[in-house]
Amino acid sequence: MGKNITRKIIEKHLVSGEMVPGREVGLRIDQTLTQDATGTMAWLQYEAIGIGRVRTDLSVSYVDHNTLQMGFRNPDDHRFLRTVAAKSGAVFSPAGTGICHQLHLENFAKPGATLIGSDSHTPTAGGIGSMAMGAGGLSVALAMAGEPYFIPMPQVVKVELTGELTGWAQGKDVILELLRRLTVKGGVGKVFEYAGPGVASLSVPDRATITNMGAELGATTSIFPSDETTRLFLAKMGREGDWMELIADADAEYDDVITIDLTALEPLVAQPHMPDQVCKVKELAGKKIDQVAIGSCTNSSYSDLKNTAQILSGKMTPPETDLLISPGSKQVMKMLAREGLIEPLLDAGARLLECSCGPCIGMGGSPISAGVSVRTFNRNFEGRSGTQDGQVYLASAQTAARLALDGEFTDPATWGPAPERVSLPEDVPSIRDLFVFPPEDGSSVEVLRGPNIVALEDFDKLPGTIEAKVLLKVEDNITTDHILPAGAQITALRSNIPAISEYIFSRVDEGFVGRMKEHGKGVILGGENYGQGSSREHAALGPRHLGVKAVIVKSLARIHRANLVNFGILPLLLANPEDYDRMELGTDLTIPASEITPGGTVNLVTGDGATVPVTNDLTKKELEIIQAGGLLNAVREGKS
Ligand code: F3S
Repeated sequence: MGKNITRKIIEKHLVSGEMVPGREVGLRIDQTLTQDATGTMAWLQYEAIGIGRVRTDLSVSYVDHNTLQMGFRNPDDHRFLRTVAAKSGAVFSPAGTGICHQLHLENFAKPGATLIGSDSHTPTAGGIGSMAMGAGGLSVALAMAGEPYFIPMPQVVKVELTGELTGWAQGKDVILELLRRLTVKGGVGKVFEYAGPGVASLSVPDRATITNMGAELGATTSIFPSDETTRLFLAKMGREGDWMELIADADAEYDDVITIDLTALEPLVAQPHMPDQVCKVKELAGKKIDQVAIGSCTNSSYSDLKNTAQILSGKMTPPETDLLISPGSKQVMKMLAREGLIEPLLDAGARLLECSCGPCIGMGGSPISAGVSVRTFNRNFEGRSGTQDGQVYLASAQTAARLALDGEFTDPATWGPAPERVSLPEDVPSIRDLFVFPPEDGSSVEVLRGPNIVALEDFDKLPGTIEAKVLLKVEDNITTDHILPAGAQITALRSNIPAISEYIFSRVDEGFVGRMKEHGKGVILGGENYGQGSSREHAALGPRHLGVKAVIVKSLARIHRANLVNFGILPLLLANPEDYDRMELGTDLTIPASEITPGGTVNLVTGDGATVPVTNDLTKKELEIIQAGGLLNAVREGKS
């Protein structure tokens, strides 16, 4: 039987387990990436493991999220990251060099390699055939220490692409179409592997946009073949030696097949406040637009921004439409500058921002109150823009640039000819010298820490019986932004768990932290798809610090589930979803934790003696980790 690409890569990196969907497999990890918002904690955890030099082929520490440097906290953290990378043998990418995923794609990712990153959009590197997955920071720290990364063996879905993109349709519209069809939880436990005759017509930036936003499907990852287009991309990046052909066998088997006709696609947009609320741009014609933001790890490539400059050239955006542009990397910025493409952006009224995440996580560029913001980003969760009632729409760079000129949604039929599809110039400038490569011997490097860096606390083992109250009850589709909002003030505290914990669920229920402090322990009751969104492990570390013992939900998002396990919080699933309605804020619960078995069912007992059956999808090892009080304890005890 022929093999698909995913199977080929997993087989080559398999350390333990059987390649049967749903069974746990352990994978050798070739590369890791961290970014500052989650990576500072990941590096503290790496230090706590006490391993010395990283044991991967390559680990890169990027600074791209919190680059505004308000006060001492961020620059202190950046200095810690630079020095700990030098000591540990990792590459460091300073603030302003670019966004981790864009930089990794351009400079380090390799076809056929395994990559995990402490950022949920790590699958961007799947655009050139890496098996790239978002993971919790502790999982990344362990991979840097040479430990395998464990995942349930995914199902592999073939996305058969036929035809070719035409007119204004872009790679972004491919993934928006998939989100429209499958929703934000349609990809859980799956790898989306792109195939078919339409693949050849897609550029690497289009492919990377698609794999980047595959994260919004809840997928394990997404991957494209490594073909001639990939070889040419790597050659232009000066890395032809990193190329290898990687294609599925002609008779490869898949668990499912989805077909998308590229020719039939037209510009799409995701409406507030979920990436799967997708409609055609023309359906919104007439709606006023207050802001357009072009950039992020999804759409900030050279081709996106060259098209943007071409669309805006010689024209002016309306004064009431704020236009923000953040290039994905200094390499992109240099190419734009070299070709005289910065000037048309400035002349059109754009504000040119730093090469960083910026407005994507509300680091500047928040929309006006209740303002409509069209963004080329991957997420439009409520409040993520920094304006709680901001109305964020997600679209391609080309669509966003065109709409910026109109100041309102318009029908693409009125837009005139689409800009040419851009390929990289012959002579792509290198930014390799901007990375800080570690010395051969880092033993004399002093790791420098500021006062905001607070050492990790020790966590207790899981008690045999948990007596606790439901101290928070939330609805379906709770995101990690709900659990721990982003934004400059909060993410600056990422290396200080006691301080950042004060913000847990602060925008959902202001009394939650107070109730947790009063009771010392508690349980969170949630609906479907709890914890979707980013990989931020502070969304598990914070609740753990406050004393959350269990999260009882209808279903869980993949990375957050892993983070709960890593920090010793029981992720329990309601056997009967309707039992959600039988428990309220303040309900007393007794959880027979010592009776929980992998996949088994136990009965919780409520204060009035009713029983609520809960199950779990934990492996034996995951259960041992939770019982030990989390992964760091388990590693120290030799249980993982
Ligand atoms: Fe940064 Fe937003 Fe991507 S925060 S890594 S640009 S999802």
